[in-house]
Amino acid sequence: MSVEEGKHYLLDTYAQVPVVFEGGEGMYLTAEDGNRYLDFVGGIAVNAFGYKDTGLQKAIERVLEKGLLHCSNLYYNSEAVKAAKGLTALASMDRVFFCNSGAEANEAALKLARKFGNLHDPKRSEIISMVDSFHGRTYGAITATGQPKYHANFDPLPSGFAYARFNDLDSVKALVSDKTCAIIVEPIQGEGGIIPADHAFLTGLRALCDERDLLLIFDEVQTGMGRSGKPFAHQVYGVKPDVLTTAKALAGGIPAGAMMTTGRANTVFKPGDHASTFGGNALAAAGINEMVSRLSDASFCDHVSEMGAYLHQGLEALVAAHPDLCTTTRGMGLIQGVVLSVPPRTVVDGCFAKGLLVLSAGANVLRFVPPLVVGRAEIDSALAIVDEVLAQLQQ
Ligand SMILES: Cc1ncc(COP(=O)(O)O)c(C=O)c1O
Repeated sequence: MSVEEGKHYLLDTYAQVPVVFEGGEGMYLTAEDGNRYLDFVGGIAVNAFGYKDTGLQKAIERVLEKGLLHCSNLYYNSEAVKAAKGLTALASMDRVFFCNSGAEANEAALKLARKFGNLHDPKRSEIISMVDSFHGRTYGAITATGQPKYHANFDPLPSGFAYARFNDLDSVKALVSDKTCAIIVEPIQGEGGIIPADHAFLTGLRALCDERDLLLIFDEVQTGMGRSGKPFAHQVYGVKPDVLTTAKALAGGIPAGAMMTTGRANTVFKPGDHASTFGGNALAAAGINEMVSRLSDASFCDHVSEMGAYLHQGLEALVAAHPDLCTTTRGMGLIQGVVLSVPPRTVVDGCFAKGLLVLSAGANVLRFVPPLVVGRAEIDSALAIVDEVLAQLQQ
C-alpha cells in the first residue's frame, strides 16, 4: 500500500511522514521499500519491548489458544482479573477501571472527580489542570489540556476547568475555591516539552489536596509503565495520587488504558456510572499481564534508569557540541528531550533521512522515547545521527 493511498483514504489529522511501515524487529522498523529505521519514537512511548518481542507474542498466542479474545464486562475474565491485581500492586493503588486509551482513562478520572465533588456539594465540580499540559483529544481531555491550540474551533467546550501554571504552587492555590473537586497533573509534562515537575510542587499539591479534600489525579499515560526508571513516575517522586491514569505502553502495543484509584476514590463509582465495551478485554489484559510481569523484575526498571542516564549524558554532550542549536537537555529515565533553538521538525526530518526516528514535543523540544529495551549501541548510533544532522544544520 502506498503513501498516496494513505493520503487519499485516511483523514488528514497527523501530518504524516511519507513512509509505510510493514514490519519490525528489536529496535528497528522496516518500511515497504525495505529501508530500516532505528526507532527512538517507539510508537510515541508505546512499544516498550520494541518489535517482535517473544514474551508479548506468547501472551497473545495464549489468549488465541484459549479462544477468548473478548467477553463483555458484564462478566469477569481471568486475564483482566489477573491484570487488575498485578497492575494495582505495581502502581501502589487499590482498584482499576480498564479502557482503551489515555484520553479514555482521563475521561474516567474527570468523571470520577466530578462525582466525588458532587457527592459533597453539587457546586463542587471544578477541575484545575496545568498550562501546557496534555491529556488527550476527547472533549473532557482537550478541555483539561492547558494548551489553547487544541481548543481552537471546537467550541463549546465543557465548562468547569481552570488552568494553573505548572511548577507554581501559588498559582494552583490561587485557583482553589469551594467549587474545586480535583487537580490533574502530569508528573513530567510530555507533549508540553518534557518538563519534569519539581518535587516540592508535587508534595505541595498532595498537601493542598489533603487540606481541601480534593482528589489529586496524576496523568501517567506517557510516564507510566517503567519509562521513568520506576514502574510509575510518582514512585520516583514519592508522592501518591488519589487517581492514576495510564495507557500507551500499558499492554506493550495492544490498545489499553487504565484509571486506578486509592482511598477516598475507591468507592465513588457505582454500577452504571461508567463503562467501556472493550476495556480490559482478554487480549489487552494479556498484554497488560506481560507488561506487569516484566516490570515486576527490578532489573527491567534498572535497565531503563541506566540507559536513561546514558542517553542523557550523550544528549548533554550534543548540547555542549552544538551550543548555537541546542539550549539544554531534560528528562527522566527514557523520556528525554533536547531544547532546540531551531524548529524541531528540521532535526526530525534530517534524522529520518538518515534512518533514525525521533519526534518533537512542544514548540522547541526534540523528544526521545525509545523502546525500554534499547541498548548502549543503539543509543550511540542514534546520538551519532543526531550529531551529524546538527552539524549539517550548523553549516
Ligand atoms: C500525558 C498524556 N495524557 C493523555 C494522552 C492521550 O492518550 P491517547 O492518545 O492514548 O488518548 C497522551 C498522549 O500523548 C499523553 O501524553
